[in-house]
Amino acid sequence: MILENILQVAKEAGKIMIEASNPKVMEKSGHANFCTETDEKIQAFLIDKLSKICPEASFLGEEDGQDVFTAKMSKGLCFVIDPIDGTSNFIYAYRPSVVSIALLKDGRPYLGIVYNPFDEMLFTAEAGRGAYLNKERIMSSDAPLAESLAVFGTAPYYEELRDRTFDAVKKLMPLCVDVRRSGSAAWDLCSVACGKCSLYFEMKIQLWDYAAAALIASEAGCKVTDIEGKSLSYSGASSVVCTARGIQEIPEIF
Ligand code: IPD
Ligand code: CA
Ligand code: CA
Repeated sequence: MILENILQVAKEAGKIMIEASNPKVMEKSGHANFCTETDEKIQAFLIDKLSKICPEASFLGEEDGQDVFTAKMSKGLCFVIDPIDGTSNFIYAYRPSVVSIALLKDGRPYLGIVYNPFDEMLFTAEAGRGAYLNKERIMSSDAPLAESLAVFGTAPYYEELRDRTFDAVKKLMPLCVDVRRSGSAAWDLCSVACGKCSLYFEMKIQLWDYAAAALIASEAGCKVTDIEGKSLSYSGASSVVCTARGIQEIPEIF
């Protein structure tokens, strides 16, 4: 029931994204780090609606100074939200952009919802109950890397990670069919979850980028770790590697 209510909220948030026209763009610190008035509007909308569904939950969100994970958030229920994952895509009408909502229970992912309103693709997962795309069960690909696409991310404002990232991509490219970069980490993880590609990596993403989609990917049979192969912390920024069922070991690219 709670999942159904959250799904409705995610869909309404997606409607706000689709209907936005010419939103004001603000710059945050670092190279090409943007926020729009639509990001802020959707975040305020999500906090308003989700706090009515779960009044006891705390909130971590990308915008409006709600972005520091505190000890309180690792107890009880905590919504982790990214109102628009893929803000640069949104600004330039280069798809996709998604709404990402995770619910943590005692610091572990419990529900994950990623909604791409432009293609009406709604990914959902409940811990231990599988992952779904538009209510149909999904599983990651069982093809080997050599027969799969791979996807990676790297934010323009983490300049110190650029060389390491592209060195890894250079090693990855001959091991797979081809590499892709979407501009939305949540979308990348969901793309591995539903079998479009078999490997995703990024050297640093924030909890709101990965919390929902990492649960979706795990529930679709993916292995999701940091680049050292350790479990994700779900308490802040992390590197992330996600591999589909056909990949036994993380290739030596890092
Ligand atoms: C970004 C996207 C991008 C990733 C960045 C994120 P935003 O989120 O997920 O793919 O490379 O690290 O910050 O700013 O569009 O919400
Ligand atoms: Ca994001
Ligand atoms: Ca965002």
